[in-house]
Amino acid sequence: MCGIVGFAGKTKCIPIIYSGLEALEYRGYDSAGIAYIYNDKINIIKEKGKLINLKKKLDFDINSTIAIGHTRWATHGNANITNAHPHQVGKFTVVHNGIIENYIELKNKLSKKGYQFKSETDTEVISALLDYNYKLEKDILKAIDKTKKELIGSFALGILCSDDIKDIYALRYSSPLILASFTNGNFLASDIPAILNYTNKYIILENLEIAKINKETITIYNKDLKEVKHSYHTYNGEKSNVQKNSYEHFMLKEINEEDKVYKNTINSYFDGTLKSLNENFGFLKKYKKIDIVACGSAYHTGVIAKSLLENYANIKVYTEVASEYRYKKCFYDKDTLVILVSQSGETADTLAALRKAKNDKIKTLAIVNAIDSSIAREADYVLYTKAGPEIAVATTKAYLAQLTVFSLITLYLAYINNQLSSKEIDNIIKDIIKLPRLIKKEINNYQIYYNIADKIYENKQVFFIGRGLDYANSLEGALKLKEISYINSVAYQAGELKHGTISLIENKTPVIAIATDEVIIDKTISNIKEVKARNAYVIYVSSINPKDIFYDDFIKIEKVHPILQSILTIIPLQLLAYKVAKNNKCDIDKPRNLAKSVTVE
Ligand code: G6P
Repeated sequence: MCGIVGFAGKTKCIPIIYSGLEALEYRGYDSAGIAYIYNDKINIIKEKGKLINLKKKLDFDINSTIAIGHTRWATHGNANITNAHPHQVGKFTVVHNGIIENYIELKNKLSKKGYQFKSETDTEVISALLDYNYKLEKDILKAIDKTKKELIGSFALGILCSDDIKDIYALRYSSPLILASFTNGNFLASDIPAILNYTNKYIILENLEIAKINKETITIYNKDLKEVKHSYHTYNGEKSNVQKNSYEHFMLKEINEEDKVYKNTINSYFDGTLKSLNENFGFLKKYKKIDIVACGSAYHTGVIAKSLLENYANIKVYTEVASEYRYKKCFYDKDTLVILVSQSGETADTLAALRKAKNDKIKTLAIVNAIDSSIAREADYVLYTKAGPEIAVATTKAYLAQLTVFSLITLYLAYINNQLSSKEIDNIIKDIIKLPRLIKKEINNYQIYYNIADKIYENKQVFFIGRGLDYANSLEGALKLKEISYINSVAYQAGELKHGTISLIENKTPVIAIATDEVIIDKTISNIKEVKARNAYVIYVSSINPKDIFYDDFIKIEKVHPILQSILTIIPLQLLAYKVAKNNKCDIDKPRNLAKSVTVE
């Protein structure tokens, strides 16, 4: 969601900024723009829609060496050229990621001082406020410092001032910003992929710090405007991770990496012995109650984890979406642990939920993919998922890695709470070891799911049903399908259908029925038969061979211990969603209106 790249160096900057913006496309955006210094003046070029539209307007050969660029995901005002960043008012030109909550008050105040606004954005108000404060302070740094104290909300900013055309200024609060340098200049960026063509070393700008960047140096000022030094972090992932290679879409590439991602995640915490689990998860022992908080797919892993931890480890779990949790009354006690799950580690609501728990002196654990992200840094404990960079907006491999961590945590807590026999533990360990092969096998079965996708892709709605753990799997299956194919797909508890939703079942309405839980499978099958009796088109997804034929298509998945089963269940659903979206010619990696990293509330 909104990407920022800034560069000040000794070499032509437009190609550098443009490739940085391309690397941030995955975050989601609907317009883009660049402000660059040329002939001692700030020039601005903006365009709505995809970056390719902006590209047509850019002169890649122009002898400019300082610029800030931006991809905007519309929050205040439509996705049009006027609302696109950068925004210039007076001497200040700004790109912004975040939301300014008091922008109306500030806009009213500045309007009374004579400022006029062209756009509907909160960002233009920041430019005006900077300009106003600069007139008062007559010093750029002090003007930025004064401005940051007046802004309420979240902001990562790249700032140019026409009185200082050698420097770019940066400021951040709550939204992420990194700084980096290489032989030909210095960068600021929202995220690591933007700099990876030039360097893998970066500095994290902390909340309320200001940075000044020019072709020679990066200077950082802390919240009291004292100069400070930060050490460099190193990104060790492969650069090729963020290329599509021979795959048509990042989503497909990322699904095909799932066996490797699973292995990497398992190997980080488990060497085949319970001792290794104790070393990595021993800190969990003292918590008797767990709240799991997250958004989107990460929330769905929390729903699955609730079912696993309650049923197998005998631990009471409360799972909630972060945007609700952050404003809710929470019934904490001294042995509550709050687990935040996030791929990006920057999701605004999840971060706010973490801060709420910390405020109440409750310990927090982050299960996060992005190293050094805000959630990872602020939590008391961190367990990293080892998915590597995920580019497709619809998460696949990072989701699978989150499930993997939860499976290990469940195994560990079930073991120390004496909930599993040693024979059952041995069987789970055997399943853990054979899972990469089974994951690969399921991916290689893609043609089965593609054939089904070819039959259902023209439908306007699809239902997913399941009970217990399989309802949790249904939630993610339905989300995957709707987010990339725009088909209205919804998940229901199989037993709940007849209380209203079954009225929507018509001749050939696709119903994807998931049944992997042996304990309750007969009940689920009864519910499936109810929709079949109303002529639904039933796609039965199960690890158990059916005794009779009540379905139109059958996706057989491998059977493993329930602690691990969801890792396998999701793969056909991801590939099915992919093919439906492909048949419908949807923009699979960048679905409309969606952002990968949701950094606003
Ligand atoms: C966005 C993404 C989803 C993701 C959710 C939570 O909506 O499109 O794929 O599940 O945010 O993101 P997080 O980075 O916290 O896992």
